[in-house]
Amino acid sequence: GSCAVVIVAAGSGQRLGHGVPKARVPLGREPLLAHAVKGVLKAGIAAQICVAIPADDAELAEICRGLGAEAATAGVKFTVVDGGADRSASVAAALAEVADGTTTVMVHDAARPLTPSGVFNRVAAALRDGATAVIPALAVTDTIKTVQPANLPRTGAGLEKVVGTPSRDQLRAVQTPQGFDLATLRRAHENALTFDAETASRITDDAMLVEALGDEVYVVQGSTHSFKVTTPMDLLLAEAMLEGPLR
Ligand code: C5P
Repeated sequence: GSCAVVIVAAGSGQRLGHGVPKARVPLGREPLLAHAVKGVLKAGIAAQICVAIPADDAELAEICRGLGAEAATAGVKFTVVDGGADRSASVAAALAEVADGTTTVMVHDAARPLTPSGVFNRVAAALRDGATAVIPALAVTDTIKTVQPANLPRTGAGLEKVVGTPSRDQLRAVQTPQGFDLATLRRAHENALTFDAETASRITDDAMLVEALGDEVYVVQGSTHSFKVTTPMDLLLAEAMLEGPLR
């Protein structure tokens, strides 16, 4: 069956502090979105790429015209849609434009510009082997605590306190591309429309929506190169990787 890759690029990127939407932030000679699209083309797993960008961003739309031409050269259908108010809405908008005959879909963040082909290939292989949902992930190196608001005894100063320490062996830091059977992901997004506002606000990836259906979500090895460019330090690392021996 054929695979579509949804690239979500409709975020504001405020934590990067660059003053432009994150997908347009330059990395080396090109904007982040161009790196993400070219990474998908290089992996050779997509029949279609569907990009969600901010509705009013004429500059990003122009960048997409150039990327669309490159995709066409590679025989890949290229579609651009207006993103939504949150990541989940942007994915849903893109899913609506996935071509008939598509069997699987990967959802990828534009903010992970250096994702290696190997990760796309591992996700694709698990889908071929019958997974209906598969995500790339890494073991965590830090110890992770769960916390809640708390006040210091003497001054009442508002801090947080530790509620628990989940066993690090069982924790994974999750990345994209996340791969799905298309019908399953569409059903998962329809189901999410029934969530209350509080539950909806806690959705940070697509796998969560499939988990809510009770389906299995399989995990393949991610890559340190797939890190999400979120802070100025991440951008510095990405620049160094483009130039240096890590590439
Ligand atoms: O905010 P966060 O870093 O988790 O965003 C992850 C990805 O989701 C980014 O690539 C961003 O462009 C995308 N996004 C989107 N539409 C939104 C918010 C985020 O496509 N409304």
